[in-house]
Amino acid sequence: MTTNPLGDLVASLGHAVVVTGTDTDVGKTYATAALVVSGWNAERRRIAVYKPQQTGMRGGEPGDVDDVARLALAAGVPSSALTTAEGQRLTEPMAPPPAAAIDGVELLPLDAHVREILELQETHDLVIVEGSGGVLVELDGDRHTIADLAVALQEASAGSAASTEPSGAATPYHAAAEASGRWGSPDTSEPVSAAERGGGTGSTVLVARPDLGTLNHTLLSLEALLHRDVEVAGVVLGSWPADPDRLATSNREYLADLPPVAGRRVPLLGAVPRGWGGAA
Ligand SMILES: Nc1ncnc2c1ncn2[C@@H]1O[C@H](COP(=O)(O)OP(=O)(O)OP(=O)(O)O)[C@@H](O)[C@H]1O
Ligand SMILES: [Mg+2]
Repeated sequence: MTTNPLGDLVASLGHAVVVTGTDTDVGKTYATAALVVSGWNAERRRIAVYKPQQTGMRGGEPGDVDDVARLALAAGVPSSALTTAEGQRLTEPMAPPPAAAIDGVELLPLDAHVREILELQETHDLVIVEGSGGVLVELDGDRHTIADLAVALQEASAGSAASTEPSGAATPYHAAAEASGRWGSPDTSEPVSAAERGGGTGSTVLVARPDLGTLNHTLLSLEALLHRDVEVAGVVLGSWPADPDRLATSNREYLADLPPVAGRRVPLLGAVPRGWGGAA
């Protein structure tokens, strides 16, 4: 089994990558770890992983960023290459607002997360942000979601890149993918190559399940993201079985050729094999 299931995906993403999902437990942490490995293989030597809200954890318990570190290490990324950070830790396994209320603390405002991520960008070649739960889970006390965080990061990145962007660099990924004639690969053994994927301009990755219900959840999540102006790079399957049944295979084929959502074609970027990193 490849130790780098997402191949060179990071090469088509920006400096800060937002990982969200169609739900909780869909494999966002696994996909985040696989993106770390993709980054390491793309010569990103200083990589940071940031979890704005780690819910359901007490003091010293290992959180998602610790799982990312373990998985990345197992796949050959030296621990010295990885910085892990949490914005805020909350005890209850609930959405951040009620979890914070139970803990009797204020949630960090969106701006604080943006500042932290921009600071990490100053000292790292790649910063990956793993949201909590699904797309519309609130992450602060002002009803901002991971979509708002993604948009704020896009705006910050557009501001800093405005004067340095090489002309013609932003080939729309849908045009490139259309030219290549595919949006993803039903091949389960190899990562999707950059040529197959097309050159993406977005840096938000939506992690989805391969099983029943995923098509509706994926399309709903994409619609919510794209209507909020989030630049979506594409979809990643968080946990792809070694022996996929007809349903999983059919879902993967559909996700690899999604109908346009809000006028955009969104590619399937790849899949993380179930059990990758030594998990059961
Ligand atoms: N590629 C994979 N290989 C093996 N197990 C996986 C894989 N992806 C997900 N899982 C299983 O599903 C569980 C949830 O995965 P993961 O923690 O990545 O989800 P998540 O979307 O990050 O959840 P959360 O919303 O809590 O952050 C894991 O504990 C693991 O048991
Ligand atoms: Mg997680």
